[in-house]
Amino acid sequence: MTLAYWNGSLLPLDEVSVSPLDRGFLFADGVYEVVAVYDGRIFELDAHLDRLARSLDAIRIAPGLDRAALAAVFERLAAEAPRPAATVYIQVTRGAPAQRSHAFPASAQASILAFASPLKRLGRDQQQAGFALVSAPDIRWLRCDIKSIALLPSVLAAQHAAEAGALETVMLRDGLVTECAASNVFVVKGGRVATPAADHRILDGINRRIAIRLAAEAGIPLEQRDVAEAELRAADEIWITSTTKELAPIVRLDGAAVGDGRPGPVWRRLRDAFDHLAGGPAEL
Ligand SMILES: Cc1ncc(COP(=O)(O)O)c(C=O)c1O
Repeated sequence: MTLAYWNGSLLPLDEVSVSPLDRGFLFADGVYEVVAVYDGRIFELDAHLDRLARSLDAIRIAPGLDRAALAAVFERLAAEAPRPAATVYIQVTRGAPAQRSHAFPASAQASILAFASPLKRLGRDQQQAGFALVSAPDIRWLRCDIKSIALLPSVLAAQHAAEAGALETVMLRDGLVTECAASNVFVVKGGRVATPAADHRILDGINRRIAIRLAAEAGIPLEQRDVAEAELRAADEIWITSTTKELAPIVRLDGAAVGDGRPGPVWRRLRDAFDHLAGGPAEL
């Protein structure tokens, strides 16, 4: 049985019933967060709560729960989450008013749904082999900094990767790299790391920030700036970051080898540092 939080109650996930007028269902009018839970311990909860607050503010939803209450929802579900690793998903929508109409309803209480799922970490042997990436145009809107539940372009990009047997799709806009369907991108050339700056074109990933911090601590030069498609294709190393993929090394891009076709030394250093933070490496 998967336990869910739904508007103040705890109940089995399959007993949650959502109104057909919920604006999440009708308009994708809501935002979400996903945290990782390692052996019952939530990874970087504060950063995720900060980002949730920013996303809610940006689309002017008042969740009706303060930060401490939202933290308590995460903690409650994390306590019973599958081990050794899990995620807790939370989404907040603008609620279910009496009538469907595009503009904000005069009165509707936000709907809050949260539940935990097992997290299958990418195994150490898979990491050693590395992963494939494919590219596609970035067809999303220009507020990718908001963690919106309107994810259709990301769904299509993820399906593009799945059909190509790749881990992710890297998206390109105006000759520049933005990010993947659900992860951020880093490139390495000559020992220097670059990643797109956190502006309206990307989601400022929590594991992106961790990777930037770990690079600084390791004395590895890193720039947050525009990254050209040509730099991506000429990179010595590429890796991607996200809550569920952690730090995953990319060894093929659109069928071509990245660098020498093996996970690189800069990724290795940061991956070891990440595993230390996460309480240990993934299983084989
Ligand atoms: C578009 C997008 N970029 C980046 C990320 C990575 O963010 P995080 O590291 O916070 O999981 C995600 C995560 O879902 C995402 O959806």
